[in-house]
Amino acid sequence: MAKIIAGIGTSHVPAIGVAMDTGLTDQPYWKPLFAGYGPVREWLAQVKPDVVILVYNDHCVALSPETVPTFAIGVGDEFVPADEGWGPRPVPVVKNDPDLAWHLAESLILDEFDLTIMNQLKVDHGLTVPLSIGCGQPAEWPFKVIPIEVNVVLYPQPTGRRCHALGRAIRKAVESYAQDLKVVIFGTGGMSHQIHGERSGLINKEFDTAFLNDLSANPQRLVGLTHVDYIRDSGAEGIELIMWLIMRGALNDDVKEVYRHYHIPVSNTAAGLIILENK
Ligand code: DHB
Ligand code: FE
Repeated sequence: MAKIIAGIGTSHVPAIGVAMDTGLTDQPYWKPLFAGYGPVREWLAQVKPDVVILVYNDHCVALSPETVPTFAIGVGDEFVPADEGWGPRPVPVVKNDPDLAWHLAESLILDEFDLTIMNQLKVDHGLTVPLSIGCGQPAEWPFKVIPIEVNVVLYPQPTGRRCHALGRAIRKAVESYAQDLKVVIFGTGGMSHQIHGERSGLINKEFDTAFLNDLSANPQRLVGLTHVDYIRDSGAEGIELIMWLIMRGALNDDVKEVYRHYHIPVSNTAAGLIILENK
């Protein structure tokens, strides 16, 4: 059967993609951030997942704000990078595993998580930057990617508790797929940041550190955080962290933290990364 063996939580700051695409990663501003991405690239190259389920949010780039799915799943054969205003990022087209994606869609919907089915989907930095962080600049992405898109941009977003429950249902869906596949799930976005208004630039290291600690030690505390908690303590865009709870929900109760990296600031954002392996 297919099995989720580990999860990665990572920020998706668009400037990280720009730094890679334009060859800036050795500059003093960027070097310490990218130095911390070496171990995750080595880990992924060693683990060699067949499929990555990548939980991310579109930023009103590929999905028009006229139609806002709370949760959506990409089932098409491939996903091209979206034009975010400066042209699409020069990264490979993302290839899906449509059979597994359709299996997930069916299992999740019959399990009463009503995901919107995206037959076509262009992918913005929310999806491509985590792939660049994990894989560098390959000619092709080394695994299939199933995108699960979450509305974290326009109120009302789903709750963290609902996200965690969706993660549980994703695990059940994966484990009911007959083919032997090694699956890693990414939760992306965050950590603390706010990119507009009076508190623009807000970063809260204490909040982020407690979030990283409790992902393995006390996930139920994180499941109980409200939208107001995120906005007050981690900035308006810190609410992207609810996507990490989908990743966490898809793992076992007992996980082992095998790697962590935290660097501030990156653009307006606290950039965090964690790898959790199922025990
Ligand atoms: C920034 C961070 C984000 O998560 C995002 O989606 C856009 C911009 C930033 O820090 O600049
Ligand atoms: Fe974002």
